[in-house]
Order: sequence, then C-alpha cells, then structure tokens
Amino acid sequence: METSNRNIIEEHLKKIRSSVKDGIDVDTFPIMISKQLSLYYGDFKAVNEASIPIFPQTVTAVIGPSGCGKSSYLRCFNRMNDYIPGVKIDGSIFLHDQDIYDEDVDPVSLRRKIGMVFQKPNPFPKTIYQNIAWGPKINGMKDHMDDRVQQALEKAALWNEVKDKLHQSGLSLSGGQQQRLCIARTIAMEPEVILMDEPCSALDPISTGRIEDLIFELKKKYSIVIVTHNMQQAARVSDFTVFMYQGDVIEYGPTERIFTRPQKKQTEDYVRGKFG
Ligand SMILES: Nc1ncnc2c1ncn2[C@@H]1O[C@H](COP(=O)(O)OP(=O)(O)OP(=O)(O)O)[C@@H](O)[C@H]1O
Ligand SMILES: [Mg+2]
Repeated sequence: METSNRNIIEEHLKKIRSSVKDGIDVDTFPIMISKQLSLYYGDFKAVNEASIPIFPQTVTAVIGPSGCGKSSYLRCFNRMNDYIPGVKIDGSIFLHDQDIYDEDVDPVSLRRKIGMVFQKPNPFPKTIYQNIAWGPKINGMKDHMDDRVQQALEKAALWNEVKDKLHQSGLSLSGGQQQRLCIARTIAMEPEVILMDEPCSALDPISTGRIEDLIFELKKKYSIVIVTHNMQQAARVSDFTVFMYQGDVIEYGPTERIFTRPQKKQTEDYVRGKFG
C-alpha cells in the first residue's frame, strides 16, 4: 500500500516539476502533497483540482484575491473541513506516503501532526501555562510539563515576555502576544506541519514583524503553509508561492520567480497589484 502511494507521489511530483519553469531545486521527498484536490460546498466548487507539494523545512505561501479559496484549501491539509456540513472532497492529500483522507486515518491524531494557527488569535480563557499544557496533557504527553511549556514559549519567542506571569490569563496579553501564544500552543504538540491562515491580519506592523521573524526561525524545524493577503509578506517569508484565483491554482513555484517572472498573465496582474 505505502509503496504504491510512494510511486503515485513520485509520478505526481514529476508532473508538477515539469510544469514549473525554472525548476524546483528541492530534491527531497515532499512532506505533504495535494493531488487534484477539489472541495465542494454543496454544489459550489470552491477548490478545483489543486496540486502542490509542501517540502520539509520550507514556507509555502498561498496568495490570491478574497474568496478565491485559500482558506478552504488550507483547511483541507488537516481535514478541518470535516466539521463543515455539506462539504465534499475529491482527490488526495498525502502526508509522507499516507493519504490523509483514507478511512483508517484518525483526524484527531492527524491534527496533532498538522497544527493550525488562525487569523484571529484564539487563546483559551485559561492561564498562559494552561494554554500550552492543555494539548500535551490530554494527549498523554504529561512528563516534564514545565520544560515543555517553557520550550514552546521560547520557540514562539514569547518566553521573556511572559515568564513572570505564566499564571495570568492568556487573554490578558496583547493581540500579537496572543498570536505567539497560539503558535506556542501549536508547537507544544510537536507537529510536523503548521498551517497559518492570515496569522498577522489582526496585528500591528511591529507584531507582524515579530511573527514573520518567528516563521523564519520555525521553518528550521517545521514545514509551514501560510495564507496571506499581503504580497510583501509572502515575498518576505516564503520559499514557494501558490497563486489561486476562483478556486484554481493558477501558478505554483519558487517565490522569487513568482514575484519577478510569473509565467501566467493573471499571476503577473495580481502580484503587480492590478486586481484583488
Ligand atoms: N462554509 C461555507 N459554506 C459555503 N460556502 C463557503 C463556505 N466557506 C467558504 N465558502 C465559499 O467558498 C469560496 C472560497 O472561500 P474561502 O474562505 O476559502 O476564500 P479565501 O480565499 O480564504 O477568502 P479571504 O481572502 O476573504 O479569506 C467563497 O466563495 C466562499 O463564499
Ligand atoms: Mg480566507
């Protein structure tokens, strides 16, 4: 089973590579890959046969005008759409060589490996400490909890700001700090992939800068997929960019190339700010 999935993935990756001009000079096997993934809300097709790889220790940005399907597509990568009634998915998304939509995949343990950070910081109404400790605790990762909490906060570049108030409410923090708390909460689960849906859109420029620095640090260990409206942000933080329009992946490739030498007219118009 797994061997044949590996062949499917390698064939599919070959196809994606050959359609990307200037090549993708990453030789590694993708950590995730989406293969002709479509998503319907009832009769409405919001994502149309999207195919992209996610390489380990890289940042992939998803850009495109409002309503083009970015969030819908992102949520497919950890089966977050399972919660929405009337959603239908076609195609596959592989994590390593496992199709995450296979019947025998448990979506809850999948989401442990593929964490998600949302647009609006959403800490639990609990202490800073409890915000981090809760996930590991209910998942049986109870040992050395103080260390785990500290490490997650350090990796999220928040430790110095909160180390003397771990037992205050997470909601007492500023918006930018709350977002780093949510990132720390995700990291504490030791995921392999972190999905971020416009994580800076509710933040001021300074907090945004800190999250961008953090993303740069985090990619040394994790693979990150980030949806952003902000093209400068995509250009600054990502290695690969996906441009979506009306449910289609119009173009995928190395970020530098997408922004300087796009292959498609629609991509060019969008990155030059002609629409969206
Ligand atoms: N739960 C839902 N039920 C029905 N239609 C939905 C649902 N969620 C999104 N849609 C529709 O699917 C399309 C894509 O929405 P999506 O939220 O993925 O876009 P987006 O690119 O993330 O937009 P934005 O940049 O505004 O966040 C839109 O037409 C939207 O109205
Ligand atoms: Mg969205």
